[in-house]
Amino acid sequence: MISQRRTLLQFLAASATVVAIPAFAQKAASLPVIDVYKSPSCGCCGAWIEHLQKNGFTVRAHNVDDTSTMRQKLRMPEKFGSCHTAKVGNYVLEGHVPASEVKRLLAERPAALGLAVPAMPVGSPGMEVASGRVDPYDVLLVQADGKSSVYRSYKGRS
Ligand code: CU
Ligand code: CU
Repeated sequence: MISQRRTLLQFLAASATVVAIPAFAQKAASLPVIDVYKSPSCGCCGAWIEHLQKNGFTVRAHNVDDTSTMRQKLRMPEKFGSCHTAKVGNYVLEGHVPASEVKRLLAERPAALGLAVPAMPVGSPGMEVASGRVDPYDVLLVQADGKSSVYRSYKGRS
């Protein structure tokens, strides 16, 4: 009986950890501002910003002449480069990172530089196409030393 009860408590504790992320995500007011650095002519950057706003983030967009200068300043390696670089709290976001991973990052607070979706995968947020095609892509957790690991993999669909 005791061991059963302990198992139930462990289960409840585990569930509480799991539901903590959506609960956090629902509180739009508690989401920090995201500063986005993009070139003035970038259409998909605007679409990514809309995706963030739809998911409860407040966005400040900054047009810059050269996004690679900003990337360098924020210490995001060029090899992960995409069309825009953003800052949320102490984290750097490169490219079309889905809002769900940004929220997870803010909830889990790992020791890292930030997240990157290199290049511009078709079907990532802000890169949607009419046909609904999605190319497989990874959201990378990038460390300050430039090393990276897969934070989440998205499957493609044609
Ligand atoms: Cu883009
Ligand atoms: Cu962009």
